[in-house]
Amino acid sequence: MDQVRIDITTPLRRYPIIIAEGLTERLHLVLRELGLSDRRFIVSNPVVWRFHGTLIGARLPGSQVVLIPDGERFKVLSTVTRIYDALVSAHAERSANLVAVGGGVVGDVAGFAAATYLRGINFIQVPTTLLAQVDSAIGGKVGVNHAQGKNLIGAFYQPHLVAIDPLLLKTLPRREFRSGLYEVIKYGMAFSAELFARLERDLTGILARDPFSLIPIIADSCRIKASVVEQDEREAGPRRVLNFGHTAGHALEAVTKYRRYRHGEAIAYGMMVAAQLAVDREVLSPEIQRALTSLIAQLGPLPPISDLEAGPVIEAMMHDKKVQEGRIHFVLPTRIGSTTIVNDLGEPELKKGLKAIGLKG
Ligand SMILES: NC(=O)c1ccc[n+]([C@@H]2O[C@H](COP(=O)([O-])OP(=O)(O)OC[C@H]3O[C@@H](n4cnc5c(N)ncnc54)[C@H](O)[C@@H]3O)[C@@H](O)[C@H]2O)c1
Ligand SMILES: [Zn+2]
Repeated sequence: MDQVRIDITTPLRRYPIIIAEGLTERLHLVLRELGLSDRRFIVSNPVVWRFHGTLIGARLPGSQVVLIPDGERFKVLSTVTRIYDALVSAHAERSANLVAVGGGVVGDVAGFAAATYLRGINFIQVPTTLLAQVDSAIGGKVGVNHAQGKNLIGAFYQPHLVAIDPLLLKTLPRREFRSGLYEVIKYGMAFSAELFARLERDLTGILARDPFSLIPIIADSCRIKASVVEQDEREAGPRRVLNFGHTAGHALEAVTKYRRYRHGEAIAYGMMVAAQLAVDREVLSPEIQRALTSLIAQLGPLPPISDLEAGPVIEAMMHDKKVQEGRIHFVLPTRIGSTTIVNDLGEPELKKGLKAIGLKG
């Protein structure tokens, strides 16, 4: 199958996202075509490296491999320091390339190291989760968590290449795969009726992780994120629409201390909350709400929600870092592929919406 190439132009850099089945096999050729030097550091984690290290190591011989521990709790500055240590002790220069091979955690941590070591070295993303392929590897946000909150420390730093190989997803645990797919549903619902229809039509192939089915939905997602980022690298207007499902979703993650839901699962609930609020405001038809709920349901069961109280979830929404002047900005769907942003939702309305999707009042 042909490869898909999407070029992103940002104020600082123009670079490609390349999506192709088996791209990992020819990663060295792609890097060479882009004129990137052979001086490479690969950052990955032991889980990803056990599955894919042999192939990637063979294609990028001579690279120094830095494995960081697996998991969100290692997305911290001390992990970045370990990467700096490896770079410093190998005398890495400005022309060195840092290649992140992993999910969003590896990409965010490695990207922050690449952004800051010598004030910036070449950065290449090889995302290995669906979430990373459609979201975290695109857009240039890199960074780590602080004990007081997620992603509090970071930078905008665009990579030189994002190399996406859907075959890498074959080894992903099912729950991680589905978690990424909810973000794809987000892109469809908020930006593209065509993508949404494709998800409905081709769900069997997608869930089987057939590259033939995955490439179009990954490509559409990347195009959407890329075009939003191009318009709006630093998150004002259009970038807000990417937050569809995230206002309630982040709150659900917070009240369950990031332990119950994978990010995408919380977003799935968040999209259902937004759709319910939109129906209550009569900006969305119940038929379209049902189409969204039904697509989400077809992916499989979500972790429970009915034991959670609406009150603390609303409280958590108020504390989100994106709240401005005490007003929650809510992205509400209006049709498949389009949204409106409201900032005048009161507590009674929010409570009603949360209860309608199953929370306790
Ligand atoms: N930078 C951004 O714009 C942005 C956007 C969204 C999310 N994020 C961040 O991304 C992170 C979440 O990323 P994630 O969902 O990819 O989680 P993750 O990086 O923790 O990966 C999930 C799990 O899958 C494993 N894994 C990865 N690839 C695999 C593969 N091919 N086969 C088998 N196992 C594999 C990982 O080792 C991990 O255990 C969060 O820290 C979040 O803040 C960043
Ligand atoms: Zn998200």
